[in-house]
Amino acid sequence: MGSTAAVAAAAAASALPASAGSGENLVLILDYGSQYTHLITRRVRQLGVLSLCVSGTAPLAALEGLRPRAIVLSGGPHSVHAKGAPTFPQGFLDFADGAGAHVLGVCYGMQLLVQSLGGAVEPGERQEYGKMDVEVTTPSSALYGEAEAGKRQTVWMSHGDEVVTLPEGFEVVARSVQGAVAAIENREKRFYGLQYHPEVTHSPQGMETLRRFLFDVCGIKADWKMQDVLDEEIKTIQSMVGPDEHVICALSGGVDSTVAATLVHRAIGDRLHCVFVDNGLLRYKERERVMSTFESDLHLPVTCVDATEQFLSKLKGIEDPEQKRKIIGREFIAVFDDFAHKLEQKIGKRPEYLVQGTLYPDVIESCPPPGSGRTHSHTIKSHHNVGGLPKDMKLKLIEPLKLLFKDEVRKLGSILNVPDSFLKRHPFPGPGLAVRVLGDVTQGNALDTLRQVDEIFVQAIKDAGLYDKIWQAFAVFLPVQTVGVQGDQRTHSNAVVLRAITSEDGMTADWYYFGHEFLVDVVNKICNNVRGINRVCQDITSKPPATVEWE
Ligand code: XMP
Repeated sequence: MGSTAAVAAAAAASALPASAGSGENLVLILDYGSQYTHLITRRVRQLGVLSLCVSGTAPLAALEGLRPRAIVLSGGPHSVHAKGAPTFPQGFLDFADGAGAHVLGVCYGMQLLVQSLGGAVEPGERQEYGKMDVEVTTPSSALYGEAEAGKRQTVWMSHGDEVVTLPEGFEVVARSVQGAVAAIENREKRFYGLQYHPEVTHSPQGMETLRRFLFDVCGIKADWKMQDVLDEEIKTIQSMVGPDEHVICALSGGVDSTVAATLVHRAIGDRLHCVFVDNGLLRYKERERVMSTFESDLHLPVTCVDATEQFLSKLKGIEDPEQKRKIIGREFIAVFDDFAHKLEQKIGKRPEYLVQGTLYPDVIESCPPPGSGRTHSHTIKSHHNVGGLPKDMKLKLIEPLKLLFKDEVRKLGSILNVPDSFLKRHPFPGPGLAVRVLGDVTQGNALDTLRQVDEIFVQAIKDAGLYDKIWQAFAVFLPVQTVGVQGDQRTHSNAVVLRAITSEDGMTADWYYFGHEFLVDVVNKICNNVRGINRVCQDITSKPPATVEWE
């Protein structure tokens, strides 16, 4: 992928990352609010092609400059007839034509295309939801090829409206067994449509159809490779950061900041200065573990700041979760500011840049699709971004992962030799154990107690070979004392909660079912080894209605 001035201009207009690729092998996904939109983006990337997701109603200016070879119009929850139903920007079809792009409408996207080109979409006699068989009706179809003619395949349908009249120049190439139009083509004009969702696993041949579309129909080359992404990012950073300029980075010990810092270090060496803050809210032996990996495995120059006292003294007596988060955010800024200041005195120069491990979902989520009911999610994300910066620091940002999904970051990390123990770690929230000790985090021995319980629980999960199957597992300390009996004595001790969830991205989650034996064992270990705990509960609430963290 190459950065061009045109891409940079378009990227600025559309809030796309400035390093976004463009041109011959780029696929743009226009988002109309389907829950599967990001899955399309990911599937295209799995096929080795860079794809970027843009709001379906973004102004044309946001697309101009990007010269995509293909544009996919996503599905969406609307009817094209509904008042205010989202549609592509004015001039979009001319833009696609001018760019020589092939356009594939999926579900709502196909109906939008049909309606805009003069065909007719009507409420279907038969609403088709769920698995359905479709039959390829012609040997001349570009999407399926000759070999599929007359064959059936199972696909995932989800539509109430259906296409009843095709625009001029189109032909039906597949129908559902109920007779509804399932796939259409106008090869001369480079328009294609699928009524079903090829991106979901319930459409087992969907990937093959996407593959045919990208490679055979559009002639795209699979050139989105992590090694190329790495090389390109390194070049970009080297040309951006002047030879005597310095860069700082706050490491959290998580995957994103570690991979981002390792990459920048590869580009500019020891002009990168990292800081790891021990805020007293870390997990069991976290500081020692993280620092030794940074030093011995990654050879990253990291300054460890022990700010335990600074954080805990400010948190003393504070019970309100939001107030706790705000205090932690403020203290992070103060520590960071102090680090930058001391660094300036040491190297005799103000650091110019800051590395952040922003990922692509964060970029997309700040531009929610039309009609999704979601507003800009900055408020959710801002609490996630605890290490905010003081405005007067005036640092320029380096965000080398801004185009990547989490699994891609892991791949990149693996090319950079970041150890698996880092890459596969469960996410850990910025405010740390402060959101897992409910109420005042400085109460009694709560933090240490929680560390011990958490360590036993997570170690048991690792020993059982379950760590990689679980998105996140941790313990929560309840400021509640209950009566128990231990060693023939009545106790009045604290209760803890174990939480383990499975999830794709942390936005929704299911609780993990361990089974009887594992739980009996882990509860015994906790009650026998951790002083002050006589009751262990498991949180079996999914998200929604609960959140992952308790505060
Ligand atoms: P919730 O509790 O919002 O968590 O369902 C979703 C995911 O986000 C993590 N999380 C945070 N991460 N700073 C972070 O860096 C935070 O303030 C924060 N709060 C929640 C949480 O651990 C889960 O993975």
